[in-house]
Amino acid sequence: MTETATLTFRDQQVEIPAVVGSENEIGLDLGAAKLRDHSGLVTLDTGFKHTASTQSAITYLDGANGILRYRGYSIEDLADHCSFLEVCYLLLKGELPNAEELDEFRTTLNQHTLLHEDLRQFFKAFPKDAHPMGILSASMAALSTFYQDGDVNDPKAVELDVIRLLAKMPTVAGFAYKRSQGQPFIYPDNKLRYTANFMRMMFSFPTEDWIHDEDICDALDALLILHADHEQNCSTSTVRLVGSGHAPLYACISAGVAALWGSRHGGANQRVLNQLDQIHSEGGNVEKMVQKAKDKNDPFRLMGFGHRVYKNFDPRANILRKKANVVLEKLGIDDPLLDIAVRLEETALKDDYFIERKLFPNVDFYSGIIYRALGIPTDMMTVMFAMGRLSGWIAHWLEMHDQHQPIGRPRQIYTGPNLRQFVPIDQR
Ligand code: CMC
Repeated sequence: MTETATLTFRDQQVEIPAVVGSENEIGLDLGAAKLRDHSGLVTLDTGFKHTASTQSAITYLDGANGILRYRGYSIEDLADHCSFLEVCYLLLKGELPNAEELDEFRTTLNQHTLLHEDLRQFFKAFPKDAHPMGILSASMAALSTFYQDGDVNDPKAVELDVIRLLAKMPTVAGFAYKRSQGQPFIYPDNKLRYTANFMRMMFSFPTEDWIHDEDICDALDALLILHADHEQNCSTSTVRLVGSGHAPLYACISAGVAALWGSRHGGANQRVLNQLDQIHSEGGNVEKMVQKAKDKNDPFRLMGFGHRVYKNFDPRANILRKKANVVLEKLGIDDPLLDIAVRLEETALKDDYFIERKLFPNVDFYSGIIYRALGIPTDMMTVMFAMGRLSGWIAHWLEMHDQHQPIGRPRQIYTGPNLRQFVPIDQR
C-alpha cells in the first residue's frame, strides 16, 4: 500500500503519496496529489534544495556516504576498468557493452567525427581570445542548423543526432583550441581511440607525425568517466528543462554547455587552477586564501570546495587526488601546485568554518592539476568537463522523452506591486 503524508494548512488537508526509489529514497509526489488543483497551494524551494524534479534510473548519488554509481556500477570500478566510450554506452543504453557492441558503437561514431566544412568557417569568425566554452556552446547550437532533419519524436533521427554529438564534440573542442593558437585545424584520425584522437586534434601539427601517449589517454579516459554524469546538476537540469519544451537536442546541449560554464558549476575547475597559481606566485601562503574564503564581507569562495549534495566527501575528488599523484609521477612532472593543493585542502579541512558547513574538496579541486599535466590549457578545462558530461546530458534528455514528461514550468510566489493606476508618459 502506498504510504502518504498529510499536509494540513488552515482548514485544508491534502494527502500526498510517497514515492520510494530503488535505494529507499523517499519523495512526496505533489503532482500525484494534485496539490495546487486541490488546495491552491504551491511549494517554494529556491534553488531546488529540497525538490526532486524527476524519477531517474541513470545515476545514484548518496551525498552523506560519498557514493556515486552510474546505472548501478560504482564510479571507482568504472574509472579503474572502463574506457570512456564504454561508459557513454552504459549511460545511454543502460548496460555495459560487450566487445562486439563496443566495436560497433565506435565504428558508428567514427563515421561522424568530421565537421561540415561550412561549420569550420565559423571558428575563424570568433575573436582569437574567445573563451572556448562560448565557442563550444555556439557550435553546438550551430549544429542544429546543419542537421535540421531531427524530429524529437523520431527515435531513428534522435539516435543519429546522439551519435553526431558524441562524435563531433572532440573535433569542435580541438578546433576551438587551434583557433585560439592561430594554428591549422587538425582533422580527426579515426584509427585512434576517442581520447587519443582528441589529443591529436589539440596538439599535433600537419607537418609532423603524431605519437600518442597511452598513459595520457588512460588518464583522460578516467577524467571523462568521472565527469560523465551527476544526476540532476545545474547543466543536466538545464538540458532537461530546455528539452521539455521539445527544442532540438543540439540546442539543449548548447544550453547545457552554457549552464556548465559558470564558476559555481563546471567553470570552477579553471578557477581552482587560477587560485593555486595565485597562491604559488604570492609565496605559497594557503592560510591567506582560507581566511579570505571565510570573510563574510568578501564574496570570494574557495573554488573546488563545497557541494550541494556531498556533505561528507566527493568520491570523485578522492579518486582524482590519488590519480594526480600517479599521473604526475608517470609523466615525470613535479608540479608545485599539487603540493599547494594538498596543503590548501589540509588547512581548510581543519578549519571550523569548513567543518561546520561540511565543505570538502569537490571534483574540480584536483582535476585541473591533472589536465595541466596532460598539457590542457586552463581555459580549456571546462570544455573537458563538457566533453565528459555530454553523455550524461544526452542520457537524461533521452530518459525525459521516453517518460513523456510534461514541459518544465515552475510556479512562483509573486512579490511585486498590486494593481497600479496607469500614468501617461507626459504626466510621469
Ligand atoms: N568557499 C567558502 N564558503 C563556501 C563555499 C566555498 N567554496 N561553498 C559554500 N560556502 C559557504 C556559503 O557561503 C554558505 O555559508 P553561510 O551558511 O555562512 O551562508 C554555506 O557554505 C553553504 O553554501 P551554499 O552556497 O548555500 O551551498 P550550495 O549548496 O548552494 O552551493 C556550491 C554549492 C558548489 C555552489 C558552493 O559550495 C560553491 O560555490 N563552491 C565553490 C564553487 C565550486 O567549487 N563549484 C563546483 C561544484 S562541484 C562540480 C560541479 O557541480 O560543477
